[in-house]
Amino acid sequence: MSGPSTYVPKSALGRWFESRLPIMGLIHSSFVVYPTPRNLNYWWTFGGILSVMLMVQILTGIVLVMHYTPHVDYAFSSVELIMRDVNWGWMLRYIHANGASMFFVAVYIHMLRGLYYGSYKAPREVLWILGVIIYLLMMAAGFMGYVLPWGQMSFWGATVITNLFSAIPLVGEGITTWLWGGYSVDNPTLNRFFSLHYLLPFMIAGVVVLHVWALHVVGQNNPDGVEVKNVARDTLPFTPYATTKDGFAMVVFMLFFAWWIFYVPNYLGHADNYIEANPLATPAHIVPEWYYLPFYAILRAVPSKLGGVVAMFSAILVLCFLPWLNTSKVRSAKYRPVFKVFFWLFVASAIGLGYLGAMPAEGGYVLASRLLAVYYFAFFLIVMPLLGLFETPHPVPASIADAVLKSTHSAKA
Ligand code: HEM
Repeated sequence: MSGPSTYVPKSALGRWFESRLPIMGLIHSSFVVYPTPRNLNYWWTFGGILSVMLMVQILTGIVLVMHYTPHVDYAFSSVELIMRDVNWGWMLRYIHANGASMFFVAVYIHMLRGLYYGSYKAPREVLWILGVIIYLLMMAAGFMGYVLPWGQMSFWGATVITNLFSAIPLVGEGITTWLWGGYSVDNPTLNRFFSLHYLLPFMIAGVVVLHVWALHVVGQNNPDGVEVKNVARDTLPFTPYATTKDGFAMVVFMLFFAWWIFYVPNYLGHADNYIEANPLATPAHIVPEWYYLPFYAILRAVPSKLGGVVAMFSAILVLCFLPWLNTSKVRSAKYRPVFKVFFWLFVASAIGLGYLGAMPAEGGYVLASRLLAVYYFAFFLIVMPLLGLFETPHPVPASIADAVLKSTHSAKA
C-alpha cells in the first residue's frame, strides 16, 4: 500500500537531509497520504491509543526508576518514598500502575475488534501473529512490574507463577531454580525481574514497528471486511481523516484513564500489596492482576498442575492459528449472523472466566471454570472451523464505497 514516497521537502536544507535519510518521506507516505479505508469505525482507533499508552508507560517508568531501589531490603520503602516524598511521585506511580491496566483494556478491545472483523485472515496472518507476540511480551512485562514494589502480592504472585514451571517433567525444578537465581523468590529474582521489566517495553516497541510495517504492506481491514479495490473510491488520506479521529479517541480515552488515576487509583490493585513482602506469611487468597484472571481460571480448572499449565499457555498460543482455523469465506462478523452469536458468547465466557479467576478454587467455582474453559477452546477449535463450512452469510457489498453509500442512503431514507 505505502509505496516509494513522492515527498519533496520545501527547504533546501530539508532536501539535502532527505536525500541522505528520507525519514520525512517515510512519515509522509505512512501517516499523511497513506490510503485509509473510508468506512473505519472507532474500534480502529485503538492501535493509536495503544501506541500512546506504550509511550506513557515508558516515560513514567524511566522517571520512577530514578527513585526506585531494586533490592529486597529497600524496594518497598523506595516505593513509599516515591508516593510521599518525591515531587509528583504519587502521580507518576498511579499513572504507571493504572496505565498498565488501561494498556490491557485497550489491547483487549483491539484484539476483540480483530476477532470480530476477521482482521487476522489472509493476508494479515503475520500482522496478527506479531500482535500475539506483543501480547505475550506485555503479559511478561506486567507480571515482572508487579513484583517490583515487593509487597505481599508481589512476592506471593511471583512465587505461584514461577513455581508453575516446576510442573514440567525432568527439567522443571531446574528451570524454576534458574529463574529464581536461588532456591526461592529472593533478591536475585527481584534484580533480574527489574532488569527485564525495563527491557521488555523497548522490545515491545520494536515488535510494534514490525506490526505497523506489516500493516502498511497489506493495508487495513475494515468493518465490511472487503479489500480496497479502487483507491480513489474506497479510501481517504490518513491525514486529516484518521489523524483527527484517532486524536479525538485518544483524548476520550485519556479522560477515562484520568478518572482512574485521580478518583480510584487503588481500585484495580490489591490492598495486600501495601504490606511489605513476608516469605513467612502466605496471604489467604493469592490473586493476580485482573488482566490475567481468565487465564488463571483456566490454569486452576484443570486438576493436574502440568495439565493446567499446558491449558493456560495453549489458551494464548491457539490465537496464532486463527488464520487457519477460521474457514469462512466472509471475513467480517457483520455479515455472519450465527458467528456473531458465538462471538458474543465467547466474550461472555472470557468475562466469566475473569470473575472465576478471582474466586477461591473450590466447589461450584471450579465446575463453572471448567465449563467456560471448554467453551473457550471449543470456540476456536470447533466453532470456527465448522461454522465457516455450514453458515450462510448475508450478502457482502461489492466494495467499501458501495457499503458506505448504502448506509448513507438508508440513513437519509
Ligand atoms: C502495544 C500493543 C499494540 C500496538 C501499539 C498496536 C498498534 C496497532 C496499530 C497502530 C494498528 C493500526 C490501527 C488499528 O487498526 O487500530 C494496528 C492494527 C492491528 N493490530 Fe495491533 N497493536 C498492538 C497489539 C496488538 C495485538 C496484541 C494484536 C493481536 C493479537 C494486534 C492485532 C492487530 C491487527 C490484526 C491489526 C489490523 C487491524 C485491521 O486492519 O483490521 N495488535 N495495531
